[in-house]
Amino acid sequence: MKGLLWQPGRLGPVELRNRTIRSATNEHLSQPDGQLTQAWAETLAELARNEVGLVITGHLCVDRTQRADEGQPVLDSQTDRALLAQAAEEVHRAGGRIAAQLSHSGKKAMEAVNGRPAKAPEDFAPEELDRLVEQFRLGGQLCREAGFDAVQIHTAHGYLLSNFLNPTENLRTDQYGGSLENRFRLVGRVLQAVREACGPEMALLVKADCNGCGDLRRLLELYQEADVDGVELSGVDFAARAGEKSPFYLQEALRAMDGIQVPLSLVGGIFDLETAETVLDQGFSFVSFSRTLICQPDFIARMKRGAQTKSACLACNGCYQIYRRRPVRCVQHKDPIPQLEKVFGCSM
Ligand SMILES: Cc1cc2nc3c(=O)[nH]c(=O)nc-3n(C[C@H](O)[C@H](O)[C@H](O)COP(=O)(O)O)c2cc1C
Repeated sequence: MKGLLWQPGRLGPVELRNRTIRSATNEHLSQPDGQLTQAWAETLAELARNEVGLVITGHLCVDRTQRADEGQPVLDSQTDRALLAQAAEEVHRAGGRIAAQLSHSGKKAMEAVNGRPAKAPEDFAPEELDRLVEQFRLGGQLCREAGFDAVQIHTAHGYLLSNFLNPTENLRTDQYGGSLENRFRLVGRVLQAVREACGPEMALLVKADCNGCGDLRRLLELYQEADVDGVELSGVDFAARAGEKSPFYLQEALRAMDGIQVPLSLVGGIFDLETAETVLDQGFSFVSFSRTLICQPDFIARMKRGAQTKSACLACNGCYQIYRRRPVRCVQHKDPIPQLEKVFGCSM
């Protein structure tokens, strides 16, 4: 339906001004030790100033010994709470809402950065799982204290919680391995702890793989039973789909979502207004964007004022190829990026 993208939408207790979401995108803007930076906060504010309904931060690692790369911020007791609060305040001042994506890198932790090997599901002793749940809880608490509207738990893309859900990556033989219900057990505990930490006024969200756990329908039911306020649907192979400019996971999602009540968003391969509206027409409550907002952080504002309906992003994935080494930017369209220039003296 024309215009639906600009109607307000709701994720549990949180109302968004429109149906657009900036999907979590690692900005690679932390200090080398994982501390937040001014440039990180400004990058999020810029998106909100350009009409994004919900800005989701790039994944924040709840365990500083298991980061995905040296630009990934850490969310723990050493995090700069003033910068966290500044990001929330500036996004709110611009009329947007903000969620923090909480993650543990699992098999994707970078040994060269962490000085220790990555951890797979079977490497966690029971007491380490208890500790992990508490790390996520603390992340939720810090976000609530900083004034965030929502927390999104990263259960997609081959990071730890998606490793647990994936039957080929979860080799545990205890109550955390085997059936999907067992593989979901850790995710369920994390969700419960974060819900307790965030309270009823924040939305609890997840990012999920359409093609990771073997039974998307059952996974959505489990999320619904866990009382999440929104599920963003992605897939394990998003990075292999360079050049595709149509929604990657639409068909898998449509096959599984009939009768599911929890609001859904679709991410991956959505680059123009018409496609975004079609996605909403097919039953999604929101539409999420990543690379198009790396290419043009003001793309949502341009669509809204009718200046542009198709993204300039070529879907080349150049941004993805560089992002573990330096601040994320479009490698094709090299407009100056003020917040990077301020910090690094140049925008590259
Ligand atoms: C540079 C870069 C960094 C990303 N970082 C994250 C991240 O931190 N968390 C996450 O869930 N997905 C991350 N993604 C995946 C995107 O959120 C999104 O799912 C994917 O790019 C497909 O959407 P798109 O076609 O709109 O780009 C990243 C993608 C890119 C290109």
